[in-house]
Amino acid sequence: MNKELRHKMPSELLEEEAKEELTALAEEIKNHDTEYYEDNNPTADDFYYDGLRRRFETLAGYFPRFPISIEIMEKVGSAPAASFDKITHSEPMLSLANAFDREEVFEFSERVRRFLRLGPDITLELVAEPKIDGLSASLRYEKGELVYGATRGDGTTGEDITKNLLTIDDIPKTLTKQVPDVLEVRGEVYMTKNAFKKLNISQEASGKSNFSNPRNAAAGSLRQLDPSITAARRLNFFAYSWGEVSSIKIDTHFEFLNLFETNGFVVNDLTEICVSVDQILSCHEKIHNLREQLPYEIDGMVYKVNRLDWQNRMGSISRSPRWAIAHKFPAEQMETRLMQIDIQVGRTGVLTPVGRLEPVKVGGVLVTNVTLHNEDEIQRKDIRIGDRVVIQRAGDVIPQVVRVNRNARSRFSEKFVFPTKCPSCGNETQRSEGEAARKCVAGLVCDAQAIERLKHFVSKNAVNIDGLGEKQIKSFWDKGWIQNPADIFRLARYSDELAKLSGWGGKSIENLFEAIENSRGIRFDSFIYSLGIPQVGQQTAKLLAENYIDIEHWQIAMISCTQGDEAAWNSLTNIDQIGESVGQDLLNFFNQQRNIDIVTDLASELSIESHKIQKTAQSKITGKTVVFTGTLVAMGRAEAKALAEKLGARVSSAISQKTDYLVVGEAAGSKAKKAKQLGVSILSEQEWRAMLYADSA
Ligand code: IVH
Repeated sequence: MNKELRHKMPSELLEEEAKEELTALAEEIKNHDTEYYEDNNPTADDFYYDGLRRRFETLAGYFPRFPISIEIMEKVGSAPAASFDKITHSEPMLSLANAFDREEVFEFSERVRRFLRLGPDITLELVAEPKIDGLSASLRYEKGELVYGATRGDGTTGEDITKNLLTIDDIPKTLTKQVPDVLEVRGEVYMTKNAFKKLNISQEASGKSNFSNPRNAAAGSLRQLDPSITAARRLNFFAYSWGEVSSIKIDTHFEFLNLFETNGFVVNDLTEICVSVDQILSCHEKIHNLREQLPYEIDGMVYKVNRLDWQNRMGSISRSPRWAIAHKFPAEQMETRLMQIDIQVGRTGVLTPVGRLEPVKVGGVLVTNVTLHNEDEIQRKDIRIGDRVVIQRAGDVIPQVVRVNRNARSRFSEKFVFPTKCPSCGNETQRSEGEAARKCVAGLVCDAQAIERLKHFVSKNAVNIDGLGEKQIKSFWDKGWIQNPADIFRLARYSDELAKLSGWGGKSIENLFEAIENSRGIRFDSFIYSLGIPQVGQQTAKLLAENYIDIEHWQIAMISCTQGDEAAWNSLTNIDQIGESVGQDLLNFFNQQRNIDIVTDLASELSIESHKIQKTAQSKITGKTVVFTGTLVAMGRAEAKALAEKLGARVSSAISQKTDYLVVGEAAGSKAKKAKQLGVSILSEQEWRAMLYADSA
């Protein structure tokens, strides 16, 4: 295809040209979809793929008469090819927090020590293991027999891939040595570098496309509906963790690994017990140096607290255990040319510069776009269009420019001038003091922002309306049919006009309205997330839902915050992981009457399901608000807080009328006095502990 066409505005294209480009785009999108969904072997990064989709949707919207548009619009984003039964993990499969440098490893060790209140003379044993670049799987054995094996999935629910896992030699079918009734063994399925090379040779010989790296090859091989294909692919398995285990007398992580080994599993032989951060770091260095020679791919090290009683005390947060961390190896880098800098406008008005690159493979993945973050970053690195730039890709993060190769710079290159006007609406932009981002201040008047917000609102993890994509939102927006999210639920009043638009047949209109109706029931946390408040992602939305339970309480609390209610503000910013900065963004949102109206309007269209309190940990303190003061004897503050939260209490740092209990440790300050004034119950540490372990009333 003539690549020049890609950069033309749709209005500049002749019908013939548009048709040619649409056909080529359709072909390319289809190929990427096959690679992604069927072969599990994507060769394009998300940025590039999204760019193709956007261009396709823009053109298809502009030239709606080509049947190819409709056909591919339906195909794009189709469900995965293979279908397996779902399995809900009896214990969630957690992921790991990352450390990227020595400092962060040191902080991790300090954090563990502080949490467990280990004195300087107490040794903290950490097990260091290579972080295998494959896919985790969970194998459930009952009375020593394998009953099923599952993928990690989203951590809660995975796919039943038992038959495929059984083709792996490293996975025993029966366990015989000191095995408890239920034992779930977890670990990593991977493909060796050698098996990967051989597989690609045979792929080529049979005219199929190559896998880009062993991880993708392993994923593609594991998700085959026909296990004989998996068997031919040669996969391996390292055991490193466990899920549900019925009673067993084991005290350390290392002993668990030994149990796995005696039962025929393979445990990575570079696993080591370390007793200091120095030892951990030299182990990291040693294995980093070995990396190239290892027969399998690794992308870092994992450190785990060895003592299981300590692991249990620490528990987990945000789906990662507090007692473990992944220490990544430095990222891979490549040099290429920066062809163009485009400015995108996000849903909050932030202008983000995106660098378009001459495509380059970094770590097996084709990279065509990089984020340039903001104008300061471009200034600081003096990044110019036409420069040769060093690109870095690490794990799943968006590729970045590390530096410019000044020696290769053209004499004629010019400094990049960041626009001061919004490229979408032409309005003024602003930079607040201390902020890196330049923002378009036109708010919802700016088409790009309004549309991005609506796109976010309908997206999968928000309200999830199928069939309402960027193209449809833009077209309804242009007609004035939807200006804010609640309008979507009143679209039916335009159904006659809609039927007259090209591309909308009876069936597609019916589907759209059905999808809209189906999305009226929504979980409270998804609702919060759908509002697109800056810094309020899915995790934060969940925390808010857990703390405020339903929309009414949340809205009242947020409005109280905007009216200067200190107690409301304290309970918000005292929520673990929600600090002043997120609080401020919530405040900004609720400070605008327009936003309150939007929330109220939406709430009247939707049926918002209140947050369900988990019934698992009922205790006398479930639902109560607790404040700690002074030094506790039995455990550190972090542990006391984590334990209280596990049992369903809210822990706050300031006393208010809403406080149920004040727990007073040694050398407590003035809080007890305030508690007395407010009539809050005061407990000694002993009374508190007795209450924790009492049956719930
Ligand atoms: S431990 C609670 N150990 O890394 C324990 N994970 O980023 C959770 N991984 O999903 C996992 N090597 O797929 C653990 N030695 C190792 C690992 C390892 C690779 C993967 C695993 C996990 C991901 C988390």
